[in-house]
Amino acid sequence: MMSAPSIGRPVRHGARFPRAVAAAAPELVGTVSQVLGLSVEVAGLPGAVGDLVRIDAGGPAGTLAEVVAATPTALRCMPLAPVEGLRVGLHARATGNALTVPTGPRLLGRVLDGLGRPMDGRPLAQPGSPIPRVPVAGSAPDALDRMRVDTPLSLGVRAMDTLITVGRGQRMGLFAGSGVGKSSLLSMIARGTDAQVSVIALIGERGREVREFIEDDLGPDGLARSVVVVATSDQPAMVRLRAAFVATRIAEEFRAGGGDVVLMMDSLTRVAMAQREIGLSVGEPPATRGYPPSTFSVLAQLLERAGTAARGSVTGIYTVLVEGDDHNEPVADAARSILDGHVVLTRELATAGHFPAIDVLGSVSRVASRVTNPAQQSLALRLRRVLAARRRAQDLLDVGAYAAGSDPLVDAAVTHAGAIDAFLRQDLDAPDGTAVAWEGLERLVAQLEVS
Ligand SMILES: Nc1ncnc2c1ncn2[C@@H]1O[C@H](COP(=O)(O)OP(=O)(O)OP(=O)(O)O)[C@@H](O)[C@H]1O
Ligand SMILES: [Mg+2]
Repeated sequence: MMSAPSIGRPVRHGARFPRAVAAAAPELVGTVSQVLGLSVEVAGLPGAVGDLVRIDAGGPAGTLAEVVAATPTALRCMPLAPVEGLRVGLHARATGNALTVPTGPRLLGRVLDGLGRPMDGRPLAQPGSPIPRVPVAGSAPDALDRMRVDTPLSLGVRAMDTLITVGRGQRMGLFAGSGVGKSSLLSMIARGTDAQVSVIALIGERGREVREFIEDDLGPDGLARSVVVVATSDQPAMVRLRAAFVATRIAEEFRAGGGDVVLMMDSLTRVAMAQREIGLSVGEPPATRGYPPSTFSVLAQLLERAGTAARGSVTGIYTVLVEGDDHNEPVADAARSILDGHVVLTRELATAGHFPAIDVLGSVSRVASRVTNPAQQSLALRLRRVLAARRRAQDLLDVGAYAAGSDPLVDAAVTHAGAIDAFLRQDLDAPDGTAVAWEGLERLVAQLEVS
């Protein structure tokens, strides 16, 4: 505290004092006052939600933690590294910044961790040319500035390109129980899509799968036009959550340059689970199935950032785990209400060896009618009618009680079951262009002879 000068003119230090303080740039040092669960409380530091603080622990670089809540006495932070070794009394310093994300075409072919740092052992920046960085917080484009979704995007998967057509700037969910083929379908799309750039976020998945995905599924050609962001299941919750936003931010920057980008996220459920851990750690009440309310607003914020903008597009494809094959599970429910369409994979088809295990009748693209022409819509509708008729008659067919000739649609389904299957099934490593897919559907529908 300064005491008032006792002699001479009163000093008007009101203006000079802050300037002197700024010039001297004293570093504020706070202390860790609590480590509880996965969160850390730091007392004695100013800071806003989203800022990073550096705790003096875990090596010379310290441990970074992100402020997630502020109380009158302390900052609640979530460390971006494991909490082991953190204790009360450690010093902590404000970095004055939020997390920043590297951007630009030099990221193509690179694999980054959840905080945007290279994982492949090579630096991002080159001597004399630093890599451009932007704050991780972005904002969704204004609703009225967004271009309409009116151009189809080829994914390389016949069943999707023709029957569940995706538009550039659409946000789709791939919904399925565990082990039904979500990640495999995503890798098929990564290889088969004709988008210029893919940003792929692997979040909360197993470490083993990451290498397989990059080396086998994506391959050198796929990787060359992709940016991969990885936060495996053993990473701290904050890193898993941030990875989703880092990948989204990178995709947004490609879009800002006018590009058509595909953003693939495996899995959105793991992002929601990371937010659940964070919310519960800082004292939010658990609501639906233990998910605190913030989970659903974080999902909405994340998904709203994909889509079209004034120029360019981010087509979002998110996998959603449906626990216990319960499609009304809260994360699946919330995702379905925000997304512009969903593809349902069923265990029934997967166990029968029918891959991709897409349940065409249970899947819908809300923009399909805007990105396909009437002739294409008619082809898709005719195959759907045959599939629906077969489903209706399935019980009768199973017990051999169906009388041939009683329904021309069912007859077509039975007679041409092999051809229908051949069209819907597709090998992982055999993506088809859109033109080929539509020709295949046209031939199939001609065979079915339904109007
Ligand atoms: N197109 C395909 N062709 C052949 N086999 C496939 C195909 N898709 C999936 N499979 C089989 O299904 C298994 C599980 O697939 P995948 O790992 O993609 O499922 P997942 O839904 O991502 O599972 P998890 O919920 O555990 O992440 C694979 O190991 C593979 O044997
Ligand atoms: Mg998977």
